Amino acid sequence: MMAPPDQQAIIRLFGVHRRYGALNALTDIGLDIFQNEFVFITGPSGAGKSTLLKLLYLGEPASEGQILVDGLNLARISRKRIPDLRRRFGIIFQNYRLIPTRTVFANVSLVLEAMGQKEHLIRKKVHSVLRTVGLEDRDSALPLTLSGGEQQRVAVARAIVGNPQILLADEPTGSLDPSSAGVIMALLQRYHRRGATVIIATHDHEMIGRTRGRVIRLEHGRLLPQPTADTP
Ligand SMILES: Nc1ncnc2c1ncn2[C@@H]1O[C@H](COP(=O)(O)OP(=O)(O)OP(=O)(O)O)[C@@H](O)[C@H]1O
Ligand SMILES: [Mg+2]
Repeated sequence: MMAPPDQQAIIRLFGVHRRYGALNALTDIGLDIFQNEFVFITGPSGAGKSTLLKLLYLGEPASEGQILVDGLNLARISRKRIPDLRRRFGIIFQNYRLIPTRTVFANVSLVLEAMGQKEHLIRKKVHSVLRTVGLEDRDSALPLTLSGGEQQRVAVARAIVGNPQILLADEPTGSLDPSSAGVIMALLQRYHRRGATVIIATHDHEMIGRTRGRVIRLEHGRLLPQPTADTP
């Protein structure tokens, strides 16, 4: 797909493969994702959607091929710079992955603590982001006392509190009722409007249909040809 000339690819994949033993989870993926794009990665179960997201933040290494993230070559990045790479990403995992023994506030503040930010700033930013997701009153609650939709809002807060350039979400609405799913999507769209690149792996075709964005299809680990931008 041709991009307008002012668009910069923030993520580039060239001939990327990911193998698990004899299983080819991803085969020969070539893909550019542009700054401030809103992208859906879709395809049947086992197609390689989650694997593709994991490769981007070096949750796992590619078996072959090149991945560039904001100019960083993931195959060559030094161990020392991996935290620098990870800070570019906010990640929303499929099953929230909140720490059950820590409060909502502490789940979100951990990210900023890991960045070495000052305590008074951390408090301010966490309260602000909890307000954004509508959970300012629940800061001292433990995650398991919240509904699924609320837990996912905490996961969104945690993913965006460090103001990452790229937001990755793996089935962010998978286990939610339509109304909670709509709230989560609205939060992701709002973060996108702040200038971020947003990449969502999902089966949820109804949601894709309701949301403006590029749709990338995977099947058996391969990218399906993409319609050009001006195809209706
Ligand atoms: N750690 C692993 N070890 C071995 N095989 C794996 C591993 N992770 C993924 N796979 C396999 O790679 C393929 C792609 O898996 P992946 O989780 O990326 O699919 P997916 O598109 O996210 O599916 P779903 O929609 O069910 O989440 C599957 O066949 C899966 O079994
Ligand atoms: Mg998956």
